[in-house]
Amino acid sequence: MSATVHKPEHDRRIRSFVRREGRLSPAQANALDEQWERFGIDPSAAPLDPNELFGREAPVVCEIGFGNGDNLLAACLREPERNFIGVEVHRPGVGRLLRLAAEAGVENLRVSTADAIDLLTQQIPPTSLAALWLYFPDPWHKKRHHKRRIVNTEFCDLLASRLVPGGEFQLATDWAEYAEWMRDCVNAHPAFVNQAAEGDFISTPSNRTETRFERRGLKREHQIFDLLYRRI
Ligand SMILES: C[S@@+](CC[C@H](N)C(=O)[O-])C[C@H]1O[C@@H](n2cnc3c(N)ncnc32)[C@H](O)[C@@H]1O
Repeated sequence: MSATVHKPEHDRRIRSFVRREGRLSPAQANALDEQWERFGIDPSAAPLDPNELFGREAPVVCEIGFGNGDNLLAACLREPERNFIGVEVHRPGVGRLLRLAAEAGVENLRVSTADAIDLLTQQIPPTSLAALWLYFPDPWHKKRHHKRRIVNTEFCDLLASRLVPGGEFQLATDWAEYAEWMRDCVNAHPAFVNQAAEGDFISTPSNRTETRFERRGLKREHQIFDLLYRRI
């Protein structure tokens, strides 16, 4: 894997994650070593050409913070006609996904370990994504941590600029108060139209596979909230 792009020292941006590397299992480390060339997106300040990245022209879906990749892998296999970009800073999860993707012979997947904000800002060209998925983002439930929540107006501005007109933005969470925060924030954004009849939550969409954090929420008897928006 290539060296990471160095951040200027004055970059004190509030991030939506804390890098807890955790231990890479030998299988995850091997997958990162051996499969990066095939699946990896190296950080760069230059925009990517999605057709060049995948070697074909097809609609591109991006999943932000895919965790251990259960949903993303299932999507790649279910929809071979679409291309998928996953972005996740937690490398054990990335290693796991690369191992399973290689074993399954997946060809329509590319993965970045950058901060999603950097990937979207620097490498994903404007109006290039057919859909964006954000499932079970860290809820940062303490009030003093709300500033770390990835969903805010600036984030919606960025996503809107990367989606094609008519593109979809799907979200899910098991944290009721964050669900309302997400709904209120995206409902208020002029580029997005809530696709639920009442401008509210939808029932679990058929294209979302149960994720690790969703299972964790369900075990704690949390309700699951799904949202679907279309970009104008
Ligand atoms: C609560 S976990 C949910 C993971 C997965 N979507 C699931 O449902 O199991 C949130 C994930 O988002 C990742 N994440 C948070 N902020 C990120 C960012 N700015 N860029 C990339 N990944 C991010 C974290 O590393 C973490 O794995």
